[in-house]
Amino acid sequence: MAMIRVGINGYGTIGKRVADAIKLQSDMKVEGVTKRNPDFEARLAIKKGFDVYAGEEEYVKNFDFADMQIKGTIDDLLERVDIMVECTPGGVGARSIEKYRKKNIKTILQGGEKHETCGFSFNSFVNFEEAKTKKYARVVSCNTTGLIRTLYPLYRVFGIERVIATLIRRSADPRDSRSGPINAVEPVLAVPSHHGPDLQTVIKDIYIQTMAVKVPTTIMHLHCIAVDLPESTVDVHQILRLWDNTPRIKFVRGKDKIVSSAQVMELARDLNRSRGDFNEIIVWEDGTHLVGRTLFYYQAVHQESDVIPEIVDCIRAMSGFKGDFTESVAITDKAMGI
Ligand SMILES: NC(=O)c1ccc[n+]([C@@H]2O[C@H](COP(=O)([O-])OP(=O)(O)OC[C@H]3O[C@@H](n4cnc5c(N)ncnc54)[C@H](OP(=O)(O)O)[C@@H]3O)[C@@H](O)[C@H]2O)c1
Repeated sequence: MAMIRVGINGYGTIGKRVADAIKLQSDMKVEGVTKRNPDFEARLAIKKGFDVYAGEEEYVKNFDFADMQIKGTIDDLLERVDIMVECTPGGVGARSIEKYRKKNIKTILQGGEKHETCGFSFNSFVNFEEAKTKKYARVVSCNTTGLIRTLYPLYRVFGIERVIATLIRRSADPRDSRSGPINAVEPVLAVPSHHGPDLQTVIKDIYIQTMAVKVPTTIMHLHCIAVDLPESTVDVHQILRLWDNTPRIKFVRGKDKIVSSAQVMELARDLNRSRGDFNEIIVWEDGTHLVGRTLFYYQAVHQESDVIPEIVDCIRAMSGFKGDFTESVAITDKAMGI
């Protein structure tokens, strides 16, 4: 079978992880990545064997000045690909997709773009089959992906009456020395925060309200989630068993001295995960409680990496894959060592 040829526009936090994840799959390859600046990331991309293209014609001179060999511009890359994965900062993708549409190239956007930009928001476990019929898709944000990973199994198996979630959000990624706050806690004053409605672009009829707070940390988001289940007959062990049997959810325990996002990230490093990433959603097993029919739990989301396996599955779904989501998830996860 011919390899799926993937172009990546933007090679930052998400773009470089997408490139590495694709390189590990046997049915797809990175045709090239784009950069505007000939910085250390561009240099490393070339060193890793990825072909680098200028984000636009006007940036070619930046690479000439830096004496860095590139393969052309994004227009040259577009001639060579089956699908583009847009990994530029939020809002830029809404402009890029117009260019891809003109050339009839399938496109995957990220969670920084609005649902309306392409009208289809993806998660591997919810709408893999529907993605097979789409030319344009958006993989929802790190937070929304995190919520879906643990809520969707509950919704599917037990049903959900209502979700109330508070999202404690990292204020910047580790590579970012400009964003903040660095010494304040900043609530989102609108309720719901955008996360609840975003989740409803994927699981359409779930009742969810979300609040969000930014805190001075770079390493993970933490979600505090309360779920009203319709049945009082469910017990907490059934819920833990369900999550345990669901891919891309990983348990940790306070009694093992994993009491914060710091130890979670240390665990990822100790497991020699690439870049110290955790693609799974981390749930505290001993922080999960059922009070009456309301389930309370905490989960940590590694914002830089949880969406990456979903992006790989989305590429596959949109490129003629014959199997179902369980097969794609298994292929992706095995290749990535999840
Ligand atoms: N970071 C996260 O935690 C996270 C998680 C999930 C989803 N997302 C979403 O993923 C997307 C990418 O985010 P990111 O965090 O990877 O961004 P990022 O780290 O800032 O990387 C953006 C990349 O695009 C290039 N770029 C910057 N400005 C550009 C512009 N105006 N036009 C074209 N290219 C530009 C940058 O390099 P050059 O300037 O050299 O070209 C860089 O390669 C966003 O939609 C974001 O919301 C991010």
